[in-house]
Amino acid sequence: MDKLRITGGRPLEGEIRVSGAKNAALPIMCAALLTSKPLVLTNVPALRDVSTMTRLLSEMGVQAERSAGRLVLHAASVKEPTASYDLVKTMRASVLVLGPLLARCGRAKVSLPGGCAIGARPVDQHVKGLEAMGATIAIEHGYMHASVRSSDGGLRGARIVMDLVTVTGTENLMMAAALAEGETLIENAAREPEVLDLARCLGAMGAKIEGAGSDVIRITGTAALGGAQHQVMPDRIETGTYLAAAAATGGRIRLTGAMASSLDATLDKLREAGARIAVEGTSITLEMTERPAAVSVRTAPFPGFATDMQAQFMALATVARGTAVITETIFENRFMHALEMQRLGADIRLEGNTAVVNGVERLQGARVMATDLRASAGLVIAGLVAEGETVVDRIYHLDRGYETLEKKLSALGARVERVS
Ligand code: UD1
Repeated sequence: MDKLRITGGRPLEGEIRVSGAKNAALPIMCAALLTSKPLVLTNVPALRDVSTMTRLLSEMGVQAERSAGRLVLHAASVKEPTASYDLVKTMRASVLVLGPLLARCGRAKVSLPGGCAIGARPVDQHVKGLEAMGATIAIEHGYMHASVRSSDGGLRGARIVMDLVTVTGTENLMMAAALAEGETLIENAAREPEVLDLARCLGAMGAKIEGAGSDVIRITGTAALGGAQHQVMPDRIETGTYLAAAAATGGRIRLTGAMASSLDATLDKLREAGARIAVEGTSITLEMTERPAAVSVRTAPFPGFATDMQAQFMALATVARGTAVITETIFENRFMHALEMQRLGADIRLEGNTAVVNGVERLQGARVMATDLRASAGLVIAGLVAEGETVVDRIYHLDRGYETLEKKLSALGARVERVS
């Protein structure tokens, strides 16, 4: 199993390019199931989750051709509308095929994702919305068996009020509604920029969608969607991760190909920590000349502070001046990294969904274990500031969501190396 060996204590300096967003690419790839014509995607990041999604779609008969950041998906026909446990258990986002399959084929068999390292993560809202659109969904032997009777004329538009804000839930329903008969209204919809990016792609395919990016989305179904070309938006979490790493190490970096408007909450918090940030078009420059000040964060749905940035800000807080209170409101078990950071000498007290972090002068390198994707990113940042050598074990989590992480970090002057 690969590990990342980091020799810390050096400020990040230099320039790198941000990759396409994992969380936009995955739902957009599933949109290919909605049309018999090719969907041409660019700025698709080379990540394990993207390969897993490609494999999942291929198993259904979707042709996939990839060269560099370009991915062409062609679902001329869908041979088997099934997502097996083997793939779903490795990537929860696989559940995003449910809505498109049901809309295109009238039936789908998708494994329930089960638990994951950061909490229960149920899919009841996806199910509730699709049932409101006329689907019948039975749970048997760990699978959701979804169908819609063709005598009923397929999926029908509906007014759906989500009980809570769910990103993939909103995306699943938006895709299903694009091919449903009549109008669908999704209220309390997720406002994440990735939802908007998916809506843009669906729009290019001929879907009629209004309000994406707000909490009420109106979709007028059409009988068929066509092919399209779409450029995946930049990854705001990758952007935020490198910025937090530069801030924690007292460095100066420039990120190109970024979308600053998608990470306002992160930029505000980095400024509060003392970073100087300049945005010019698609480039973001961050400079940190002093020890960071402690900043407290509370995770919330967009435009609030992203839960996917929480671990990286905890790493920043471990070496900050003062005490930061970090409150996690989205996932119930997302503090696994705190215990690993303690192994590096961090002073963190956990109280339910709150972590109280007293900044220390310095961390010391040690062996730590990555537990999930963003926890790993937090540990890498902690390793970059720690004195001596830190070895992060189980970095396959990082490969799910960070394109060429060690290359990018090396380009910024970090001493990192992948070891088997
Ligand atoms: C997406 C992101 C993930 C991010 C998360 C929150 C993708 C591929 N993944 O995950 O990186 O951390 O948003 O911003 O885009 N919930 C229910 N019932 C449901 C659905 C969700 O109770 O049917 C709960 C979840 O357990 C969680 C909260 O709602 O507590 C938000 O989850 P959700 O937005 O659905 O996360 P994902 O879409 O899985």
